[in-house]
Amino acid sequence: MHILRSIADVRKTVSKAQKEGLKVGFVPTMGALHNGHLSLLSQSKLHAQITIVSIFVNPTQFGPGEDFERYPRPIEEDIALLEAAGADYLFLPSNEEMYMRERYFAFEIIGLADHLCGRTRPGHFQGVVQVVNKLFNIVRPDVAVFGLKDIQQFRILERMTEEINHPVTILGGKTVRESDGLAMSSRNRYLTLEQRQQAPMLYNALRAVFEAAKSLDIALTRKIIEEAKQRLSDNGFKIDYLETVEYGSLQPVENLRLNTRYIVAGAVFVGKTRLIDNLILET
Ligand code: PAJ
Repeated sequence: MHILRSIADVRKTVSKAQKEGLKVGFVPTMGALHNGHLSLLSQSKLHAQITIVSIFVNPTQFGPGEDFERYPRPIEEDIALLEAAGADYLFLPSNEEMYMRERYFAFEIIGLADHLCGRTRPGHFQGVVQVVNKLFNIVRPDVAVFGLKDIQQFRILERMTEEINHPVTILGGKTVRESDGLAMSSRNRYLTLEQRQQAPMLYNALRAVFEAAKSLDIALTRKIIEEAKQRLSDNGFKIDYLETVEYGSLQPVENLRLNTRYIVAGAVFVGKTRLIDNLILET
């Protein structure tokens, strides 16, 4: 695996490959890699002859008081994992390579960032949209793979790509879980042993809501949501949200209909660690 640190080197590498008729796949990450990330790499390798993974802890998507400084950065381990998994290139830019000192442009997201994580993390998705736009313009991949674990991010980036005509195909990777159901996340490293044992309760809560929503009974679904929230807070979780939204608009549902796609999503704090997860429901 080759490590590329400059934008110029990435551009040179990608255009050479594309001139030779090779398809280029791209997997953007913030590192602290786990099997969820590696599954996106495998997916990319199925659709492209060359895959570039990026590792960049993007400062503009962290709010004040969030974990930007302490975000794990085990770069040697990450490089070894990527080599073993068969990544062709790692794009590892510095902050200076990615950002100029002052920022004169920001992205406005209409509606899609109003609920779920967007509500509690103002500016977060604007930062994600900014960096992914930059990365798409730097790499110019044919295919890019994002995880469905971060479903709001996935939907926003999918829609952005379509709406501003980035010439890239967006693919979604299924959520990879630990054997007890906990969705893999770089932030799981923050959990103490005891917190780690409790953490799958979020997934279990989502499953209970999912089952209720499947019956299309909105009153029952709301009741199950309230019970699940109670159970979570009785066990020391602080609930950010536990709700059902429409897949397309990411707006909370007023009723449940047949032949519609919904997202049952949750975010909780376990101690200081924020965990998110979701299930996609097709009625
Ligand atoms: P990061 O949290 O490192 O995640 C990188 C990619 O891995 C994202 O597409 C995310 O959805 C996916 N992912 C994380 N956990 C997963 C799991 N358990 N199963 C499947 N996929 C999983 O998301 C980001 O970084 C950043 O916001 C980024 C898009 C790189 C922009 O900075």
